[in-house]
Amino acid sequence: MGTLSKSLYMAIIAPSLLAADFLHLGKACEMLNESEAAWFHLDVMDGSFVPNISYGLPVIEQIKKTTTKVMDVHLMIVHPEKYIADFKKAGADILTVHYEACPHLHSTLQQIKAHGMKAGVAINPHTSVGLLKDVIKDIDVVCVMSVNPGFGGQKFIEHTYQKVRDLKQIIVASGAATLIEIDGGVTENNASDLVQAGADVLVAGTTVFKAADPKAMIITLKNA
Ligand code: DX5
Ligand code: ZN
Repeated sequence: MGTLSKSLYMAIIAPSLLAADFLHLGKACEMLNESEAAWFHLDVMDGSFVPNISYGLPVIEQIKKTTTKVMDVHLMIVHPEKYIADFKKAGADILTVHYEACPHLHSTLQQIKAHGMKAGVAINPHTSVGLLKDVIKDIDVVCVMSVNPGFGGQKFIEHTYQKVRDLKQIIVASGAATLIEIDGGVTENNASDLVQAGADVLVAGTTVFKAADPKAMIITLKNA
């Protein structure tokens, strides 16, 4: 990005716990607290909606006690509407459900907000952003999956740029205040192009937690 836009806008960085050392979660929280990341991205997988199982409510509850960051919880589970109250209680500030897992998405979004959380909708790589048009004003964050959900460390899908541009148009045209979050394969090499395409929030697991200096990497991503 050019110097002018850089000074006007910086991305929100949301490191994903999935890539942290699970034997030392306290250390991961401490590092993040000292960093310039604004959000903490927490991936919940059920082995049904996605072919992997990660962690759940008890881990999130413990993290809430120590983190100073916005708790950005990404539910990759079937029937997410059943657990809205539980995740609120565990400390979620933003609760993101998958478009593909919600036959009554509008209602689910209203319930998340009624529990005092920001409402997010994640879309898989094959899901068109146009499908969100009728609910865009009800969505605080659209999480555009730039890999197939379920695993960290995957390769970024290039078509994401076009989706972000299209989504940005939908948001601007409707006068919504929705943020665009990118999840999967974000690195220091694509961060700047993503922000230029319209991304507001960059999730980064492997790129942050496997970096020699995670806090410096967060700054690099933020300044992209
Ligand atoms: C994938 C998760 C991501 C994951 C990103 O299903 O939703 O949040 O942690 O990991 P990286 O940044 O390593 O691609
Ligand atoms: Zn995620």
